[in-house]
Amino acid sequence: MIPGFSTPRLRALGSWIVGSLVAVICAALLFAWSGLYNIAASSGHLAVTRAFLEFGMTNSVRTQSAMIEAPNLVNDVDRVRLGAGHYQGGCAPCHGAPGEPANPIAKHMLPPPPTLAPHVKRWQDKHLFWIVKHGMKYTGMPAWASQDRDDEVWAVVAFLRRLPHLTPEGYRELAYGSASAQRRPVTALLSSGSDTPDIAACAKCHGTKSAGPTSSLVPRLAGQSETYLAQALRDYAENSRQSGIMEPIAAELDELTVKAVAAYYAGLERHRDRQPEPSLTGDHDAGEKIARNGAPEEAIPSCLSCHGQNAAERYPRLAGQPQRYLALQLGLFRSGVRANTERARTMAAIAERLSDRQIAQVTAYFASLPPLSLTQNMRDAAVDAPAKQGAQR
Ligand code: HEC
Ligand code: HEC
Ligand code: HEC
Repeated sequence: MIPGFSTPRLRALGSWIVGSLVAVICAALLFAWSGLYNIAASSGHLAVTRAFLEFGMTNSVRTQSAMIEAPNLVNDVDRVRLGAGHYQGGCAPCHGAPGEPANPIAKHMLPPPPTLAPHVKRWQDKHLFWIVKHGMKYTGMPAWASQDRDDEVWAVVAFLRRLPHLTPEGYRELAYGSASAQRRPVTALLSSGSDTPDIAACAKCHGTKSAGPTSSLVPRLAGQSETYLAQALRDYAENSRQSGIMEPIAAELDELTVKAVAAYYAGLERHRDRQPEPSLTGDHDAGEKIARNGAPEEAIPSCLSCHGQNAAERYPRLAGQPQRYLALQLGLFRSGVRANTERARTMAAIAERLSDRQIAQVTAYFASLPPLSLTQNMRDAAVDAPAKQGAQR
């Protein structure tokens, strides 16, 4: 017992505390019920409220992100370009961008989304990662659409680091790439006739008729099978393939547009715009062996039996895809992130058996193949392959 506090005194103190708490809660409920608190966004916050919220937000972000380890983002141009492409469609409408003011409606949110260039300096990479991945309650700042895709969030962070140094021209070049000349929406371009130049809404990441993807984290669509492309878009739209970048884009396309876009890209020739990547990592010859024969002792089947140029339409062509994209996808299959459809599970079961080394080898092989001259090469391989799939093309 604390000296000076007899039991009845303690009891009185206890009832006083409980009584006060109940009174405060009742007062709060009464205040909320009365409707006297003005929730209008138009009236803004008092300076003191604003300062308090800002204080709480800053400390929350710092504490919540304490355990995150940031990858090295310095000079990662692929991440910066992919992040820029996403920023233009997914963030700039609220936050604006160099040379592009925010949407007027967004400016009337409370709190209003800030112009980010001066803001990013106050945060470390892991803080920015946390904000973009989780969003912020009570502000309208949304969470990342796919919580399993940290790799995509880091791409946005890599871009945010570059943002304060960008001129409007520099931003346009990064965000639109070779599509910067035409910034018309996908439907306008599709309906504009058979000589549709390039689908700008997609080209800013996937490249144009005459140029490949702007980042090696983005797949080539040109020359891919039409069935596969359409199916991939439906998978994203139905949330059965995870990507915070592609899911919102695919969700906006109706079935007719999906078919039209898939046919458009399937009809484009895979061009030789790019020399085989200079920095391929992994033994290319060992990769070719896996691609052609698999690794029977580890129950790994021949990749070309399903992925050859003449394989069934539901299988994607891998030749000439960027190595980084291929390796990333194999990682997603392996970790179960890309395993939500029957098709994806078929591939996931194979990817699980591949070691890091084998992934480096086989992706080096596929990335090194020049897309056009491949046809003959692939046809031979497909004929030799054990589990030959019905050729549809
Ligand atoms: C619907 C509008 C909206 C969209 C879309 C949006 N944000 Fe925000 N964002 C906000 C709002 C509102 C805030 C909170 C501002 C505040 O607390 O003062 C915010 C805050 C932030 C902050 C913290 C700024 C600071 O220092 O206070 C960052 C960083 C940020 N957003 C990045 C992004 C990125 C990157 C994207 C795209 C992936 C994005 N936002 C998409 C509305 C949006
Ligand atoms: C901001 C950049 C960006 C834009 C814009 C974009 N994409 Fe993508 N796209 C990606 C990335 C990154 C991926 C890989 C996503 C993943 O990991 O699943 C992808 C994947 C795809 C795939 C799957 C390809 C494969 O080999 O599996 C298709 C199909 C596709 N996009 C079509 C489109 C279409 C059609 C548009 C325009 C309406 C479009 N994309 C716009 C970045 C983009
Ligand atoms: C039994 C057929 C089959 C075999 C054999 C096979 N795959 Fe696949 N693979 C698939 C299917 C099906 C998909 C598409 C999954 C989907 O639609 O999400 C796929 C997708 C992929 C993708 C993603 C491509 C993209 O554009 O996103 C990569 C990379 C890949 N496979 C690599 C390999 C490698 C490497 C091997 C050999 C070790 C291999 N696959 C063997 C069926 C197969």
